[in-house]
Amino acid sequence: MPTSPVFLGSYPQTRLRRNRQKPWSRDLVAENHLSPRDLIWPIIVCEGNQRVETIDSMPGVERISVDLLPSRANQAYSLGIRAIAIFPKVLEELKSPEGVECLNPDNLVCRAVREIKKHIPEIGVICDVALDPYTSHGQDGIVQDNNVINDRTVEVLCRQALNQANSGCDVLAPSDMMDGRVRKIRIALDKADFQNLQIMSYAAKFASSYYGPFREAIGSAANLANGDKRTYQVDPRNSQEALRESAFDIDEGADMLIVKPGLPYLDVIKGVKETFSMPTYAYQVSGEYSMIMAASERGWISYSDSLMETLICFKRAGADGIITYGAVEAAKLLNDLL
Ligand code: PBG
Repeated sequence: MPTSPVFLGSYPQTRLRRNRQKPWSRDLVAENHLSPRDLIWPIIVCEGNQRVETIDSMPGVERISVDLLPSRANQAYSLGIRAIAIFPKVLEELKSPEGVECLNPDNLVCRAVREIKKHIPEIGVICDVALDPYTSHGQDGIVQDNNVINDRTVEVLCRQALNQANSGCDVLAPSDMMDGRVRKIRIALDKADFQNLQIMSYAAKFASSYYGPFREAIGSAANLANGDKRTYQVDPRNSQEALRESAFDIDEGADMLIVKPGLPYLDVIKGVKETFSMPTYAYQVSGEYSMIMAASERGWISYSDSLMETLICFKRAGADGIITYGAVEAAKLLNDLL
């Protein structure tokens, strides 16, 4: 119990239930609020025309072809969502050990960005910077002697970043966890006259089992079957290290920070926000989404209630926004459309 007289009350004069009696009153005393503007919607794109593919491990999430993107982006924007993140499912035959397809100005991601920007320029478009959608081994960088080598990977990441910048994206989100990549990407962007292109770095990205469904969705799971990402992603046991990672990215020029996964790492979100006062985003990753979905499909929990609860928990922990596969559903609920 706080001892300050300001907070102290005593029963029966003080009853904490009093403020909770009516919806209007609960709204009035609510400490945190969620708006569609807090949400970023990840969209997975695939080759083809008028193509919609379901993803077994992520019920309710679809891979869609580029031509369908403008209508989806438009729907999100009209619900109040202001930014989307594009992830590609690259054809297996285009993957290679060094992931060179990421440098192709006509690759799936670049075509997707151009298509969205052509039709709905007002929505913010975020592109991941990492090689895993393009590598035949599913690692985020170039592998030598069974390990992802840092500095050569960073060189390729800079070229990938520029390629995506040239396609017209607004934000680059390095999700690779190589050391020093934010500074190198910033320098490369500035040199190419992209001073205002933002960097939203995956500053504290943990080596997590919760990415499983996503790897299925972008088709890197089988390639990665015998590997993991523990030599570059943060150990789930560490929160101080997550703060050091964030400090480095800020020093190197990051504009916004991501903590990922989300719900199991609320302490990290709070720590990052309180320590650095940076725009801080939680990524409610695929495994978190799929767990909610799976339990709701069994009738054990309500999808919409648990989705909205987790989203407000991120805000309570200090996140400014949330990247979530449930963004459209949540925005509809917030707009009273469901
Ligand atoms: C790849 C990347 C991953 C995610 C986003 N970018 C997976 C990974 O690191 O293996 C995960 C997203 C999710 O699980 O929803 N660099």
